[in-house]
Amino acid sequence: MSPTPSTPEFVQLHQTDAHALRAELAAGLRAPAAHIAPKYFYDALGSRLFDAITELSEYYPTRTEAAIFSAQGAALAQRVPPGAVLIDLGAGSCAKAAGLFPVLQPAGYVAVDISVDYLRGALGPLQQRHPQRPMLGLGLDFSSALALPAQAAGWLAAHGLATAPRCVFYPGSSIGNFTPAEALALLRQVRAVCAQGGPGGGLLIGVDRVKDLAVLEPAYDDPLGVTAAFNRNLLLHVNRLLGTDFAPARWRHVAFFNTAESRIEMHLQAEGAQAVRWPGGERRFADGERLHTENSYKWTPEAFEALLHEAGFGPATHWTDERGWFSVFWAPAV
Ligand code: AVJ
Repeated sequence: MSPTPSTPEFVQLHQTDAHALRAELAAGLRAPAAHIAPKYFYDALGSRLFDAITELSEYYPTRTEAAIFSAQGAALAQRVPPGAVLIDLGAGSCAKAAGLFPVLQPAGYVAVDISVDYLRGALGPLQQRHPQRPMLGLGLDFSSALALPAQAAGWLAAHGLATAPRCVFYPGSSIGNFTPAEALALLRQVRAVCAQGGPGGGLLIGVDRVKDLAVLEPAYDDPLGVTAAFNRNLLLHVNRLLGTDFAPARWRHVAFFNTAESRIEMHLQAEGAQAVRWPGGERRFADGERLHTENSYKWTPEAFEALLHEAGFGPATHWTDERGWFSVFWAPAV
């Protein structure tokens, strides 16, 4: 008799505390070097604009990573143990992980995203296509810390997966939004999550590489202005969240590679002196003053391998594309 088909379960952990969120945004705006965290790009329109970015010929990371995954299926299957629980960080539409199910053969799937509502729409249809593979949607913001909550441990146990190896999947070079120190802290937590499962677990991660400026910069400043719209849309999102009166048309998209820090920086630059007001606060911007909205760190394979090692992982395996633009690493938790 085959086991009962599963229905996805959902747990929302990160309860968006509206007060704390407004305090965080206001503090960033008041800072001498004003900044807003890149997680605020992703309202409904921002998520669609990001999807549009991935279709641009200049934005190579998404399709380059996909090409590596499709070329290295057999090699991946040799490293990642079958029957693992696949833990997908920043799952969104769950499409990347779902595409790897035939290769990775996971016994269960845990999709983690800041918004459980976004996961609801994706996990339902996916579960229908994989009725015997238990699925959990976890709404949690791991940008400051990652740990699987008690509810997840309970869910794993209830599905006989408590001692299954854990494969954490973190594609897309999302790790690039973290400074090297923050990335190290996150990777240590990822390793701990993997080590709590059965032997053979580890991290499968996509990382964008240091490369020619002529390739890097247009990927973040495309001639159609899609990335500019993505960047400016953050102001509309903040207007709704904090009640600011940002006028997006008065802010110019700026993106460049900071070689010393090995990162793409995105900013919005004030076109003309202006004041931004919100309930309980105000910030004046001089003409040309910038608001920092994103860092996207680029790594050499050597530096990223050293980071994985420092985080406590065992010897990593690394795959790349023929141009050496993007890297996928498998790092065993050991
Ligand atoms: C989703 C963080 C990987 O850094 O390339 C794309 C976001 N920003 N274009 C990246 C982004 C501007 C993207 N990550």
